[in-house]
Formats: sequence, C-alpha cells, structure tokens
Amino acid sequence: MRGQFITFEGGEGAGKTTQAERLAKALNNAGIETLLTREPGGTFGAEAIRDLVLSGTSERWSGLTELLLMYAARLDHVEKLIEPALDRGVWVISDRFTDSSMAYQGYARGLGKDRVEAVHKAVLDDFEPDITILFDMDPVMAMKRVETRGEEISRFDAESIEFHKVLRDAFHHIAEKNSDRFRTINADASRDAVHTQILFAITQKYPDLAGQLTDGA
Ligand code: TMP
Repeated sequence: MRGQFITFEGGEGAGKTTQAERLAKALNNAGIETLLTREPGGTFGAEAIRDLVLSGTSERWSGLTELLLMYAARLDHVEKLIEPALDRGVWVISDRFTDSSMAYQGYARGLGKDRVEAVHKAVLDDFEPDITILFDMDPVMAMKRVETRGEEISRFDAESIEFHKVLRDAFHHIAEKNSDRFRTINADASRDAVHTQILFAITQKYPDLAGQLTDGA
C-alpha cells in the first residue's frame, strides 16, 4: 500500500522540526516505516539549493527567483526521495512543502496566488500532501524563540515582524481554503501539549491508528 505524505507548515520558530522527529518516532513505534525530510532540501541537490536561497541578504533573490529555486529543489526532492518512498509504502513527513511557497513567495513576497499555482501545476501537476499540520503561533513570541535558539539567522528570519505577521495571516488563509487537508494546532503550548495535538490530528485522519499512537518522546 502506498505511504502517506504528511507536511508540517508555519512561520519561523514554531518548533516544527522537533515535533516532526517526535511524530516520526510515534509512527515507527506503531510499526509504520517513516521517512523524515525537509524543504528546501532533502536530497543532495536540493540541499545545495537550500544553501543558495537561505544565505545572503534579503535582496539577494527576487520573489520569483526564490519561487523558482524552491520549485527546482522541490522537484528533485519529490522525484528522488518522496515519490519512491511513498511507492515503497513508507510514510513521509516533510518539515515544510508547497504551502510555504504559497505563504512566503505568493503572499509575503507579493507574487500572488496565480503565479505560484501556475508554477506548481507546471512542475508537480496536482501532487499534494495527504495531511498538513499548521503550527500557528504569535510571530513576536516565535521570533524571540528564533533569537534564543543560537542558530545562524537565515534571510527569512531576518525579515521584519510585519513580514512574519503577513505570513501568519497567509497560512490561515491557505488553511481555510484547503480545510479538508489542513489541521491547525496551537504551537504556543508546551512541547508535550503540541505533540498531543498532533497525535490527535493524525488519528482523526487515520482512525485505524487510534490506540496505536503513543508518545514519541
Ligand atoms: P527552516 O527550514 O528553518 O524553516 O527554513 C526554511 C526557510 O525557507 C523558511 O524561512 C521558509 C523558507 N521557505 C520559503 O520561503 N519557501 C518555500 O517554499 C520553502 C519550502 C521554505
């Protein structure tokens, strides 16, 4: 049976990466083979594009160039890693995917929904995740988390708080329009509470997993 494709979305500093690892463990404990990956990145070529697109000043790339770089990385990722894994029956969890392009490039960079949809159609046709978990969080709190994380600040982290507020609204809008695929969780809560919300969302979507998903800590 084909695997399921789960994506995590949201602004910066919402804790997606840690939670993706924890969900992967919970699924593994339930006997489901899982592959954890991220965007931009996930393959050798896509990780090289990630370095290009995340480093440098905000003006380094225009919105459209950024979009095309994201989709170049994404095509490599889908063709070489995601599709083959799903075909083998493996469940794939990606830390970000196409909804990030719509929110960041389409809305926050102002390219517009139609442009992003046209590129999506040309590159990936109607390929999309089976379920998307949106990590919703106050951007002011989230940026404080990013600052205290001690990691390198990316071109996107360095954007203004206004940019991050636009992003949050953009994700809400995208989630509303795709309400059958999206589940929104409150990422301001404790790590344990966020994990519980995610397990709940997954068992709602996959009722056969009820009672099998235990804490992936
Ligand atoms: P992250 O992996 O630390 O979240 O960093 C990835 C950054 O790239 C994040 O700021 C969001 C941005 N991004 C886009 O702008 N468009 C995209 O399509 C993707 C996948 C990420």
